[in-house]
Parts: sequence; structure tokens; C-alpha cells
Amino acid sequence: MCGIFGCVLKDEKAAPVIHAALKRLEYRGYDSVGEATVSGGKIWIKKDQGKIDDVHKTRNLDDLPGNIGIGHTRWATHGAPLEVNAHPHVDCTGELAVIHNGIIENFDELRTELESRGHVFKSKTDTEVIPHLIEETMDNNPTLGLANAVLETVKKLQGSYSIAAISSKEPDKIVCARNESPLVLGVKDQDIYFSSDIPAFLPLTNKAIVVDDGELIILSLGKVEIKKIADGSVVPREPKIIEWSPEMAVKQGYPHFMIKEIHEQPQCLRNTLRVQEHYADLMSTFLDRARDVYLVACGTSYHACLAASYMFSKLAFLPTFPIIASEFIEQSGKSVNIDSTILAVSQSGETADTLASVNAARQRAATILGLTNAIGSTLTRVSRVYIGQQSGPEIGVAATKTFTSQLSVMAQLALRLAKKRGKVSQDEMDFLAEKLMKLPDIVEEIILKQEEKTKQIAKKYKDAKTFFFLGRGISTATAFEGRLKLMEIAYVPAIAFPAGESKHGPISLIEPDFPVVFICAKDETHKTLIGNIMEMKARGASIIALIEEGDEAIKKLADDYIEVPKGIPEVLSPIPYVVPLQMLAYYMAIERGCNPDKPRNLAKSVTVK
Ligand code: F6R
Repeated sequence: MCGIFGCVLKDEKAAPVIHAALKRLEYRGYDSVGEATVSGGKIWIKKDQGKIDDVHKTRNLDDLPGNIGIGHTRWATHGAPLEVNAHPHVDCTGELAVIHNGIIENFDELRTELESRGHVFKSKTDTEVIPHLIEETMDNNPTLGLANAVLETVKKLQGSYSIAAISSKEPDKIVCARNESPLVLGVKDQDIYFSSDIPAFLPLTNKAIVVDDGELIILSLGKVEIKKIADGSVVPREPKIIEWSPEMAVKQGYPHFMIKEIHEQPQCLRNTLRVQEHYADLMSTFLDRARDVYLVACGTSYHACLAASYMFSKLAFLPTFPIIASEFIEQSGKSVNIDSTILAVSQSGETADTLASVNAARQRAATILGLTNAIGSTLTRVSRVYIGQQSGPEIGVAATKTFTSQLSVMAQLALRLAKKRGKVSQDEMDFLAEKLMKLPDIVEEIILKQEEKTKQIAKKYKDAKTFFFLGRGISTATAFEGRLKLMEIAYVPAIAFPAGESKHGPISLIEPDFPVVFICAKDETHKTLIGNIMEMKARGASIIALIEEGDEAIKKLADDYIEVPKGIPEVLSPIPYVVPLQMLAYYMAIERGCNPDKPRNLAKSVTVK
């Protein structure tokens, strides 16, 4: 996954604008950076491995000439993060430069063919086949022009791409194309921008045009042309006003996006309570009628699905299969048919494994429902019905606010479904609906009262070699999410299990002072959970317990505890209980000198936010 940006500007130099936009996109990839501009009949390029600021220090990314240019911030897929593999990539003549986000699946055979015809490659990337293919197409037909050459080229590509190409022979334009990787355009008077993500140009304009799969874009001063790749036909499309303020996309005084986004959760949960009734109703109707329901997602979104499976079962008596997307085709592909419904949950709406599952299910005529934070993403386009979770842009790599928002939406769906099916009494419905409405305030209170405490606990356990996370019932999902956050942000190996399963093997790991986090929501599992705590304590574990305020029974057993306000219904408990775990992971990362916004080896899924 990478970030791409480019612009055609009337009066300004392109390079500093590209540089600033790439900084705003850095969360999409940060192992190399590069820019290319076109000016004076020549392509000018600067690129190198490393973070943008470091590359800028040595190379000065601002001093390329010209008002038209493209830029790229990379997260390596093909070829190591080295200067030679950094984008932009050029053809044999150096008259063409291309940036790309995505993966070209048939690059190997294309490269072999191109090399056999004399093309010389410099990098190990899949991307480099693109400028060479464009070059060859233009050589074979010199009157074709850049736009048509790109059009012909992308027809030969298999895989995902958002690409942008500039040529010294046609210095007035940028040509882009999209397939399964995000691409949005920004328009400000005569100035035109493109990017993989809206926040890149949001400080410059709030007028945006979302590009669809299979479209070719020709950008020139004051002009945007959209064509279908399949037949070259022109697609008219007006810009939409994006309501996000540029401030929403910056850190607002917090040291990291992750902690900023943790603090945004009360507001996000309030927004999430305003999900569009019509779509929620429609979705619950589809869920009600399905013969079988699969909840499909990756990572944190999968944990939301796992929690939701308890909600659907307990409230609406609807059995569901929560499935990790990368396993979906193998595990359930053949069982899916016209009577199946897939609820795909993806913050970005662009996660490859989730989309692959969706595509496989579509081919078997299943109904696709989507829950995403990215309107305009691929998931929204392939879903029969989708709901936007309205969490606002997520810039921290670790999902926090989007997790609690996903849970809130799915709790609302479960409640709707329960009502439709007559499975809960009106009193119970009213009680749960009221509790759901109060969750934003409860989360606010937890952050306010418990942040300092989690900081202290992080200090105490910062050198722990491993962590255990245990919960029962729906808290199992909370435990899994707490574990993922700690591992990905603070690099602490961690294990999570349903507490009842811990004695079937994992308990053998326990030795004195081994930290074990118990999620102790006050529910039917409480008594049994105390038994699990005793088992761990007897083996010398240090118990860190998330408890309901005043839960004296567990307080007595715990070495450390964090309190969550009383009276949260079990089915809603993951929303408030995960928040201290997010803060614990964040402060553990800080204590251990890790940058929580840039976990190594990870980057945000392709996102249009
Ligand atoms: C973890 C995290 C990832 C994502 C996963 C799915 O903090 O961010 O595990 O949850 O990559 O991403 P989406 O929800 O965009 O499909």
C-alpha cells in the first residue's frame, strides 16, 4: 500500500505542494518517497528510500521546476525499500514517469516480454513495467498520445492499480487510471489534484470527485476528463463537497494520531448513533431473511465481527459465522450460495482479503452487505446495502475509534433485528437503546478518569516479555483486540484466549510475575471468571483486571485494576472495555520508545476516507 498525489497548478510550483501532500499521506506508507515534475521539455525526478523528512533534508523535495507533477510515498510490496525501487519509475528514454499504488499480478511475464524486446529495467518493482508499456505503445503508434497509450497499457495489466503518468512530450497533463486501488480528485478553480486519499488535498480544497474502478482520468489546467477504460466513453461527474475540516486530518495538539483518535471516540460514537435509519432497516431485513450469515473481516474489524456474533445471537437469536477474511474462501467458499448473506466489515473498504471474500461470495450469488468508514470505497460499490460508520478519517495505523464505531453500528443492527424478530421485550429494547445512547459519555468518562492509571500500569509492566489477555463470552473479542493493539504498537508478544480455554494448554506459560489482563465485565460469566483468575494467581501471575466500578471480589485478587462505570449491559461491554486496552497499548509503546503511529511492517489498508 502506498500514497499517491499529483497536481496541475496555475501559478504555483508543484513540488512544494506535492511534498506537503505526501506528508499528509505518509501514514499510507513511509519507506521511500519520490516526486517527478515536467518542465522545459524534461522530466525532473527526486526520490530516495527513507521517511519524507529525512529524504527532504538530503535532497530538497521542493526545488523541482514546473507546475505539474506527481509524488509517491511507498510501502514496499515488490522490491526492497531502496532508492532504485522508489517511485516514480521511468521508461527507457526518461521522458515518461509513472507512480503506482497497487499490485500488478502479471508483471513478471510483462517484464520478460518487454526485456526480450530490448527494454532495460532498473528496479525490482512491478510498477516499472507500466512506463515501459506506455513507451512501447507510443513508439508503435506515435500519433496515439499519452492518454490513449495509458488506456491501451492498463488493458494489459492484471491486478490492482491507481497510476499516474506524466510525459515530457505532453507537458500540460497528467493521466491517471484506477482499478481496485483508491483514487480521488480535488478541484480548486483552475488547480486540479489527485490523490489516493482526501486528507492529502483537504487543506487545499473540499471539492472532490471519486474515481471509480475502470476509469481513466486526464487532468489539465482547469479540466478533468473521465473516460471508461473499457470503451473510451466519456463519463460526466460533478465534484462533491467534503464536509471534513482540514483540522480533522491533523493531530490537534496530541503527540500521536493514535491517542488523538482514542480521544475522538466519544464524538465518533455520537456520530455513529446517527446511522441512516433506512439503510440500517434494509440491512437488518437482509440479515433476517438470510439462511446463513457470514461476518467477514480482517484484524480489528474481525474482532468487531466476533463481538457482533455474540450481539446477534444474544439479542436477535441469529446465529452468524465470524470469519477472518483471508480464510473465508477456503473455509466457507463452497458453502456460500444464493441464500447466504455476507456482512463485510472494513474500515477502509479496500482491504484485499475482505474484497476477495466478497468477490468470491458474489460469484456464488450471495448478498453482500458492507460496513465501512470509507464512502466511495470498493466495498461500498460492491455491496447491496452499505452503512458508513462515520468515524471520520483514521490516520493512526492502529484501528481504535473505528473499532468502537463498528461495534456501535452492529449493536444497533442487532437491536433492530431483535425488534423485527420479536426476540426482546419493548422494555429491554428501550433499556438497551438508552444504554447505547449513553456510551459516548461513558467512554468519555473512562478516558478522563483512567488515562493516568493506564499510563502507570504501562510504566510498571513496560519490560514484560509477554502478556496474556483473557475474557469470557463477548469479552473474548475484547481480549483479542487488546492483544492485537499491544502487539502491533508496542511489539510485546501477547496471547489471547477465551478464559475457559486457557487451562487447555496456554496456562503452562505462566510463571511468577507473568502479566495477565482479565476483562471482567459484570455478566453471567463473572463467577467463572473469578475461578480463572484464581488459577492464574495460584501460578504467580500478575493480574491486571478491567472491572466494573466497585467490583470488590476482583479488586481483592488483582495486582492492578482499571474501573469502568457500572451498569453496562454485557452485549455492549466491548465498546467501553476496549478503551483502557487501547490506552494501555499506546502508553506501553511510548514507554518502550516505539512510535505508535508507525508500527514497523504495517501500513494502513488502502483507504478513501
Ligand atoms: C489493527 C488494524 C488492522 C485492520 C485490518 C483491517 O489496528 O488496523 O488489523 O483492522 O487491516 O482493515 P480494514 O478494517 O480497513 O479492512
